[in-house]
Amino acid sequence: MAYNLLQGKKGIISGALDEKSIAWKIALKAKEEGATFTLTNAPIAMRMGQINKLAEACGAEIIPADATLVEDIEKLYTRSMEVLGGKVDFVLHSIGMSPNVRKGRSYGDLNYEWFLKSLDISALSFHKMLQVAEKLDAINEYGSVVGLSYIASQRTFPDYSDMAQAKAVLESIARSYGYRYGKLKKVRVNTVSQSPTKTTAGTGVGGFDAFFDYADKMSPLGNASAEECADYVISLFSDLTRKVTMQNLYHDGGFSSSGISEEIVEKMRQ
Ligand SMILES: NC(=O)c1ccc[n+]([C@@H]2O[C@H](COP(=O)([O-])OP(=O)(O)OC[C@H]3O[C@@H](n4cnc5c(N)ncnc54)[C@H](O)[C@@H]3O)[C@@H](O)[C@H]2O)c1
Repeated sequence: MAYNLLQGKKGIISGALDEKSIAWKIALKAKEEGATFTLTNAPIAMRMGQINKLAEACGAEIIPADATLVEDIEKLYTRSMEVLGGKVDFVLHSIGMSPNVRKGRSYGDLNYEWFLKSLDISALSFHKMLQVAEKLDAINEYGSVVGLSYIASQRTFPDYSDMAQAKAVLESIARSYGYRYGKLKKVRVNTVSQSPTKTTAGTGVGGFDAFFDYADKMSPLGNASAEECADYVISLFSDLTRKVTMQNLYHDGGFSSSGISEEIVEKMRQ
């Protein structure tokens, strides 16, 4: 059911690779709620993914941009403002990748070049998207910028490796830039800490199925799906959350506040 929450709003949505991507679901919901937006992803993902299909369904232009390159981000905002006919109201950062995780390096044997890449792709890119937006004055007053995070930023999940540091930096940037952009232009900046979700990035983490089931059993409401994440993010893009900023918001069925659940106790008994 649509509520017209984003009627007349313009935005930029990054990170939709295929139908499983969280950003894919957010794009479909944003369209349903009345927004117009551009889609972006790394040039390499254009070849691997199915973003054209999504662009067609949303009537959106695709603007390739490697989120680690400031020049690409500048082009992304400039072109988006041309296509959309003015400044944007929302920006989604849904970008994450760790070469160390992808190549199965253990935490005691990290490749530091790759570690820097993980930080650049998954965290610094958030700062770059904010800094370029500020310099180009590309976001309207009370605009909303959302990045996607994971609880491994706050608690240890061994297989999450250097992505844990990347997410900690991402959440910290939301606070620091949220302060700055709030003062400057009343722009909101938040991260949403989402349940484990079966996507390309998610399932790339070792032991994913086990911790997906564990999180599901630990959460009184069960894991939050990608569609449910989309609903939540739409509320953050809308005018109903105009005073929410600088937060890391858990969207995880209650996982982050649970010590243990009956289901896990039962499992341990067996
Ligand atoms: N899946 C999960 O379990 C889960 C849980 C919490 C948070 N998240 C976060 O959600 C976000 C989206 O991930 P997803 O699970 O939808 O997986 P996904 O693999 O569908 O999306 C990750 C996206 O990052 C893009 N990307 C990688 N390098 C890039 C670059 N240099 N420039 C631009 N884009 C680049 C990829 O092309 C892809 O579209 C990520 O930040 C991820 O860490 C995922």
